[in-house]
Amino acid sequence: MNSIPATVRWEDGVDGHLVLLDQTRLPGEAVELHCRTVEDVWQAIRRLAVRGAPAIGVAAAYGVCLSPGPRGLTFDSVLAACDYLATSRPTAVNLFWALDRMRALARACEGVADGELAERLLAEARAIHADDVAKCAAIARHGADLLADLPPGSGILTHCNAGALATGGDGTALGVVFELARRGKRPHVWVDETRPLLQGARLTAWELVQRGVGCTLICDSMAAEVMREGRVAAAVVGADRIAANGDAANKIGTYGAALLAAAHDVPFYVAAPANTFDLSIASGDLIPIEQRPAAEVASGSGPLTAPAGVAVYNPAFDVTPPRLIRSIITDRGVIQPVNRDTVARMLGRSR
Ligand code: MRU
Repeated sequence: MNSIPATVRWEDGVDGHLVLLDQTRLPGEAVELHCRTVEDVWQAIRRLAVRGAPAIGVAAAYGVCLSPGPRGLTFDSVLAACDYLATSRPTAVNLFWALDRMRALARACEGVADGELAERLLAEARAIHADDVAKCAAIARHGADLLADLPPGSGILTHCNAGALATGGDGTALGVVFELARRGKRPHVWVDETRPLLQGARLTAWELVQRGVGCTLICDSMAAEVMREGRVAAAVVGADRIAANGDAANKIGTYGAALLAAAHDVPFYVAAPANTFDLSIASGDLIPIEQRPAAEVASGSGPLTAPAGVAVYNPAFDVTPPRLIRSIITDRGVIQPVNRDTVARMLGRSR
């Protein structure tokens, strides 16, 4: 494929609409999804046509710009759209961060003409998008500096997808990998397939192949053996929400990967922008973990792979404690060691 459509983009001006790369169709086909209503955007987030914490935030911000009520876009229709989009998925805090920014902008504009409100909302959504591009670039630089001593060709394990498909920019965890590749370090990525929805196989492997970065796909259950064989020099993953004590929620299976890394002396890194931290919650116990439909586990790839009606538990995320995390790579710098004090020191300012 010569040109890959953008993960998230806004088409045309204030009367335009949101265009997403439909990630449910990858890797088979790169098809764009045109969202013209807030409901379209809500659905796209809920069914993972757009996914990954930063990308969800950017998409939701643009989604607010599609919120005309019966009398056109108004202050009330904007607030209603923010409240509605906030119900699309519960775990990634970037969604709520972006909607808070849109609400604050709308409040600051109270009294301005509705036409001007629309212009300012779109400018704010574009700013949130541009901000994410810059945050990804900064994470990539800090992460590549941190891993600068890895020998060329080193194996890096990742879980789920924290690449360009998950952000407005070049990715968080994969952003680090791409930067290492740019610096001539020839990283080789061990890609956990990431059951049940296969974000690793469908999305991360696709991105790496598109970019010519060496990678090998493994079932999640193979990670321990690959580490035991000495093939993994470091593990780098993204995050959906990080509590004040450094507990990091990410795709289900991340905690297991971190335990395996600890057992094999493999340093485990989390890469995430400042707006993935939720300093309002003390620990990961308070992070809402999304529960998804049983069908994703029992028949995720089409045919039933379990007895009809069997009980299924399908939490979409888990929480990795700081004792298993060597460092958190943020756009502001590297947090190491990870604890309440070091998180507060790095994130004390506004996000
Ligand atoms: O359910 P998903 O696909 O939205 O889960 C995504 C992840 O868990 C990512 O690792 C996380 O959002 C970080 S993306 C930079």
